[in-house]
Amino acid sequence: MTSTIAVAGATGNLGGRIAQALRQNGAEVWALVRPETGEDKLAGLIASGCGIVKVDLADPEQLQAALKGADVVVSALQGLRDVIIGTQGNLLKAAVAVGVRRFIPSDYAADFTRTAGEPNRNFDMRRDFGVILDAAPIEAVSVLNGMFMDLLAYGMPLFDLRKHSVSYWGEPDQLLDLTTMDDTAAASALVALDPQAPRYVRVAGDQISPTGLAALGGELTGTPFALVCAGSIDDLGRAIEAARTADPQGETQEFPRWQQMQYSRNMMSGKAKLDPVDNARFPSIRWTSVRDLATGMLARQGSR
Ligand SMILES: NC(=O)c1ccc[n+]([C@@H]2O[C@H](COP(=O)([O-])OP(=O)(O)OC[C@H]3O[C@@H](n4cnc5c(N)ncnc54)[C@H](OP(=O)(O)O)[C@@H]3O)[C@@H](O)[C@H]2O)c1
Repeated sequence: MTSTIAVAGATGNLGGRIAQALRQNGAEVWALVRPETGEDKLAGLIASGCGIVKVDLADPEQLQAALKGADVVVSALQGLRDVIIGTQGNLLKAAVAVGVRRFIPSDYAADFTRTAGEPNRNFDMRRDFGVILDAAPIEAVSVLNGMFMDLLAYGMPLFDLRKHSVSYWGEPDQLLDLTTMDDTAAASALVALDPQAPRYVRVAGDQISPTGLAALGGELTGTPFALVCAGSIDDLGRAIEAARTADPQGETQEFPRWQQMQYSRNMMSGKAKLDPVDNARFPSIRWTSVRDLATGMLARQGSR
């Protein structure tokens, strides 16, 4: 029987990929998009065979009508508390009201189930939504994937192929979990279609430490990489507090600098480490490694 999956956030970076991966796996996909969404944002979804459902996620009646008959709701919404608790909460209530079997929240992060003692604004709201979800009469599955590996392509200090350096906080041998958006989407689609999926599914395309990144960078470029310690995890905690105090505007932004530092702290302290990972659930996925990603980045740099 074909599964019918409603995807909220389907016009986004990850949601679009999940919708396409679901189609590749033979699912019927309903892409829930804002009523005012322009055709330019819908072309890829339509080309891959997704049905387009224009719906105001703030309107319970519209939402229930949109979800009626869906087996699973996948959320890939992005935003602050109003979206992750508020809008996603509307989606959950409507899903329960019309008898949807399973809900996959917009988590797709490092293991925030273990970071309560090490605050991270964006992780904390996802943990709070998890409490609401677990109390609702619906199956719940979260996908945890560490950091999107694609972010390394933006010249992060963590792996700077141009400056030949790796900058880290804490311990250089701390393993970090990294998964590409495509691999996260592929795993999420399979999870949505797997009735046996557990409450949390943890995947990592690669697990590599700052020491490992420096060795890899040196090997791939032929130039030794500097391994630079920016300070201890406690130093990073103080830097986060100072940056947050100096940036009140950041409270209304999704990714102020201090928020990025909070992600770094959770990963580099090891608190948000995915352990164990469930990659073996997905024999069909050929996980992209940091080596694969960096090789592609260097090839593109060389061809410019
Ligand atoms: N692990 C990592 O390193 C990492 C990195 C980045 C993101 N993520 C996670 O991946 C998930 C998706 O992020 P993304 O980067 O794909 O986000 P994105 O590209 O910004 O897309 C967000 C989606 O949410 C929709 N949306 C937001 N508020 C809405 C509302 N009120 N009503 C209707 N639609 C709404 C947007 O619709 P419109 O297009 O109409 O605005 C869009 O489709 C999030 O959980 C995020 O935290 C993880």
